[in-house]
Order: sequence, then structure tokens, then C-alpha cells
Amino acid sequence: MTRPFLIDTDTASDDAVALIMALRAPDVEVKAITIVSGNVTVEQGTRNALVTLELCGAGHIPVYAGADRPLLREPERAEWFHGADGMGNQYYPEPQGKVAPGHAVDALIETIKANPGITLVTLGPLTNIGLAVARAPEIVPLVSRCVVMGGTAWAVGNVTPAAEFNIWQDPEAARMAFRSGLPIEMVGWELCRFDAGLTLAEMDHVRSLNTRPAHFTLDCNRSALEAVFVQSGALSLELPDPVAMATAIDPSICARKSRHAVDIETQSELTRGMTVIDQLDNAGDERNRPHWRPVLERANVTVCWEIDVLRWKQMLYEALAVD
Ligand code: BDR
Ligand code: CA
Repeated sequence: MTRPFLIDTDTASDDAVALIMALRAPDVEVKAITIVSGNVTVEQGTRNALVTLELCGAGHIPVYAGADRPLLREPERAEWFHGADGMGNQYYPEPQGKVAPGHAVDALIETIKANPGITLVTLGPLTNIGLAVARAPEIVPLVSRCVVMGGTAWAVGNVTPAAEFNIWQDPEAARMAFRSGLPIEMVGWELCRFDAGLTLAEMDHVRSLNTRPAHFTLDCNRSALEAVFVQSGALSLELPDPVAMATAIDPSICARKSRHAVDIETQSELTRGMTVIDQLDNAGDERNRPHWRPVLERANVTVCWEIDVLRWKQMLYEALAVD
């Protein structure tokens, strides 16, 4: 019995590795891939997803192009991080596969309706998801899990001091998704840092697997590796989307989680896109009422605080060992 997955992605270098993991997971069937504007344009993201599918011999999976910009804001790309092509400036040859006809938001709605109980994994800004739940709120109860790579539970941002790229890029859409009732499991970007990043020896191990996906992973993440070093001084391959995909494939990879009311800051210039987590349940405390009236009074998100690093890396290696 396979589990149906639907993946929404702004396909750049770490997204591509997450796609490989899902395609290689023995009990997962990827029903569709929907592309959103984010790291790169929607056209480039679509192309990168098709390149990745081709590498894995999975050209039969439909790839739909979606929102080409955030709901209200100007798009801001992460080419400085992932390279001009989003793929570490590898400029892979034009893929044979073509984008599927139709818009990603329609494809999301139709695919969820056709596969009740589906797992939705989001690896980019939540523009497509915000639009889908606004247009068809009836899809919400049909999603069994919605694993979101986004936000920062530990309040250390990677694009601003307070915010992570995917949420910051389209905070209004993120707010719509977080308030929609989707069963969100938030995998913040910090979970790919420190001991979860691949060391030089671990990168050598990946290279020694000597498969096309293993070489592809290291090559297309070359500029991401450099960008992390410039940003934080860490000589470590940090892979946020693959970490999120690992928890989607095996929820027990998330070693510590708890449920909270989580909302997205949309007004402030300083903290735009911050994932505000009510860890102490201030919203539920009547004594707080004179000071603060939150919009969200109930826990709406499962926040992952810690992952099983050894098992995440093991899962990555297993996925990359298959040619
Ligand atoms: C997220 O932003 C993108 O650069 C990555 O693909 C990941 O989805 C990390 O903040
Ligand atoms: Ca991404």
C-alpha cells in the first residue's frame, strides 16, 4: 500500500533533493508536483522539477506551474543562494518532459479531491496553497498531513533576523494556509543546521555512492554550500527541504514536537513573515485577556523542535544510493 503525496515546490537545489527522496521512498506515490514562485521564477522552478524527475526516471509525474508571484508583494528571488538557475549554476540541459496543462491551484484542488487522506508537502512560499484553500475550503479535511518547510521555531531567521524565506516571501498566503485548518506540521529551517548539516566527510560519503542522484545533489547545491558559509561561517551542507521531506516520509524523524497556536506576522516591517508560536498558551489564559486578544485561540500547528539527525542522514543516503 503506498501513501499518496502532493508536493508544492519552488524547485531549486535543496527542493530537488527533497523530490528525489520522495521519489525513492518505497511506500510513497507522488501524485503531482505543483510549482510556485520563490527561489526562482515559476518557469525556472518548473524546468528544475522536470530535470529532477527525468534524473529519477519519473517523467510520468505531472508538473503544474502555479502562482508566478506572491499575493501582494513583489517577488524576491534567492538566486544569490541557489545560483542563477537555482541549481548551483549547473545549467542542466533542457528536459524532455513538458509542463502539464492547467494551473497548479486547480491541480492541487483536483488532486486532493481525488486522493482523500493525501499528504501535502510544501517546500516553497505558500501562495498556491493559500489560493487553493481560499477557492476550495472543502479540500482542507481531505488532507491528512500538511508538512510545511517554513518558518523558524527558534526565532532565528535566514532572510531577516525574524523570518525564514518561504514564509517571509508571501506572509499573507502563509497566514491563509496556517489559519485554514490544514493539519500543518511545521518544519522550521533551523532543523537543517548544526549537526543536521552534512560535514565534509559526509559529503565525501555521498560522492562515494557514485550514483547520478548523489553527484547531482552535491553539484546542484554547490552555491548553497558557499552561501551558507558566507552567511554563517558553517562549512556544512544544510538541506531544509530534504529535512522536511524526511519527516513527511517518516514522522518519527521528528524527535520532539508539540502543538501550538501559530500565526504569521504580516504588518510589521521588522518581523514580516515571523512564525509567532504561542508556546505557553497565552491565548488560552483568561488573565491575558486585558492585554492581548489573539486571533488564534486554539492550537493549529504541530511544531517540530528537534529531529533524529542520524536517521535523517541515513534516509538521505539510502535515497541517493539508488541510480
Ligand atoms: C527555504 O528557502 C529556500 O531557499 C529553500 O529551498 C527552502 O525551501 C529555506 O528557507
Ligand atoms: Ca524550497
